[in-house]
Amino acid sequence: MRLRYATVTLALLSAVGVITAVYGHGDVAPQPVDTTGLDKLGDGWREENPYRLSGGDQYQLAIKIGTSGYSQNCARCHGLEVISGGIAPDLRYLETGIDGDKWFINRIRHGYSQDGAYKMPPFEGVLSQEAMWAIRSYVETRPE
Ligand code: HEC
Repeated sequence: MRLRYATVTLALLSAVGVITAVYGHGDVAPQPVDTTGLDKLGDGWREENPYRLSGGDQYQLAIKIGTSGYSQNCARCHGLEVISGGIAPDLRYLETGIDGDKWFINRIRHGYSQDGAYKMPPFEGVLSQEAMWAIRSYVETRPE
């Protein structure tokens, strides 16, 4: 009997562990992204990823910063490493280049609501423009 309980308890504990692993990833409160080292972008909104346009070290740094920015702010809906589990679109299939950039920046700034409820929260005022393009840099370099 003892053993049975122990087994059940263990099973329950590991189930909780799995649930925590699945849903616990990425904090629900938006996480600030440290963009030290990236060129400042000023107030005007860009339509095309400025770090991809710069290339070189700026782009590499943007991808690196975007990797953690994504994990902390987007992965809980769009999936770990940008592989969607189905809750939200798989961002690896966004268009590349300026068309994808425009779509991306519009969605991340304003979010998306349906019937008065946010399906995706707006990130304008939460993340800097630098952080947004860093996340775009990471997302666009993830292979399909
Ligand atoms: C609470 C869940 C949630 C979070 C967090 C979230 N999103 Fe979304 N996102 C969604 C949903 C749901 C949609 C689908 C809305 C629609 O139909 O366009 C979406 C759509 C998008 C789209 C448009 C995709 C397409 O194929 O049209 C982009 C780009 C996007 N999200 C980027 C991001 C980024 C970048 C982050 C992190 C900074 C983020 N999202 C955080 C839920 C989320």
